[in-house]
Amino acid sequence: MDPLKGLILSGGKGTRLRPITHTSAKQLVPVANKPVLFYGIEAMAQAGIEDVGIIIAPETGAEIEAAAGEGSRFGVRITYIVQEEPLGLAHAVLTAEPYLGSSPFVMYLGDNLLQGGISELVADFREHAPDALILLTPVPDPENYGVAELAPPADAPRQTQSAGRVVRLVEKPAEPKTDLALVGVYMFTAAVHDAARAIAPSPRGELEITDAIQHLVDAGLRVEPHIVRGWWKDTGRLEDMLEANRLILDNVRERIEGELIDSQVDGRVVIEAGARLERSTVRGPAIVGAGARLSDCYVGPYTAIGEGCTIANAEVEHSILLSGCTVCDLDGRMESSLLGRNVSIRRGDRQPRAYRFMVGDNSDISIL
Ligand code: TTP
Repeated sequence: MDPLKGLILSGGKGTRLRPITHTSAKQLVPVANKPVLFYGIEAMAQAGIEDVGIIIAPETGAEIEAAAGEGSRFGVRITYIVQEEPLGLAHAVLTAEPYLGSSPFVMYLGDNLLQGGISELVADFREHAPDALILLTPVPDPENYGVAELAPPADAPRQTQSAGRVVRLVEKPAEPKTDLALVGVYMFTAAVHDAARAIAPSPRGELEITDAIQHLVDAGLRVEPHIVRGWWKDTGRLEDMLEANRLILDNVRERIEGELIDSQVDGRVVIEAGARLERSTVRGPAIVGAGARLSDCYVGPYTAIGEGCTIANAEVEHSILLSGCTVCDLDGRMESSLLGRNVSIRRGDRQPRAYRFMVGDNSDISIL
């Protein structure tokens, strides 16, 4: 068998995360101060995959290449593949066909996070050798996802992780037959290329991967399910991004390398080297990036403060601040917020007192 390759989809429009995605790729938004995309690359490396192709968009590709490089620091070889337009996940597969050749591959959505990684999935694929293996997880609201219907094997209905076969995939069904949603990770043999070529664009104008998989099922090929054990998060929206940050920070190990002056840290907190806290309290789980300056402030649980941020006389909780932000002299606590790079939020001293903003397109500000 050809060696297994990886394919990470890091193109797309990212409309749901505007305005952050006006200036940057959503896959580079940090979760616990590390770009989402890096978790996917690390998962590939951990599963023993050496060659990883990354689909990039013309607009954000250079930035992704600059961030992830040729892959040696992850222990993989990265090849970048430009998808001229985001015409769907199956279109991305076709775009990568010259790179993938006849290799089987793991496809991973670059804005997704999977707690347990993909090693079990890869082992399952190697053991059962199906034509495709799709990751599924039970969700409380299957009507909002692509949902799989399974035919259990006669001998052991749903007792093993890969029991049964996938018989039908339905995108956002009004009346879901199961609660098993498609997670953004799939394994395919080269048979998927013909399937992606055979399907027509959906009403939203995209070549859908669910249609390509259904095509494999209808052609009599073996598509198996693999039920995820740990959590899975698609970080496409602000709330999901904050939730992913919370889930990852929940597992950080305490590490204090910065300087603490009359300051206190409680619980699982990372203070990177070069960060300085004065008269401040950080209650974990939280991370404070290198070179950040915190004075007279409170940083609450589930907060990731990026490199070189300044927080003074303010309270911040359950938020992600990208590098270079300044938050000063706030009256109330800032929470559940995502600040892009070099954002400044401060109380001015002019009269009359009024809110004063200079914000980019599609920004979202709530004053409660
Ligand atoms: P989505 O989040 O479904 O699409 P999107 O990035 O266009 O976002 P939005 O809905 O907010 O506009 O895409 C999932 C992942 O796949 C994401 O990392 C982007 C990537 N992708 C591609 O690489 N090529 C594509 O054609 C599409 C549709 C997505």
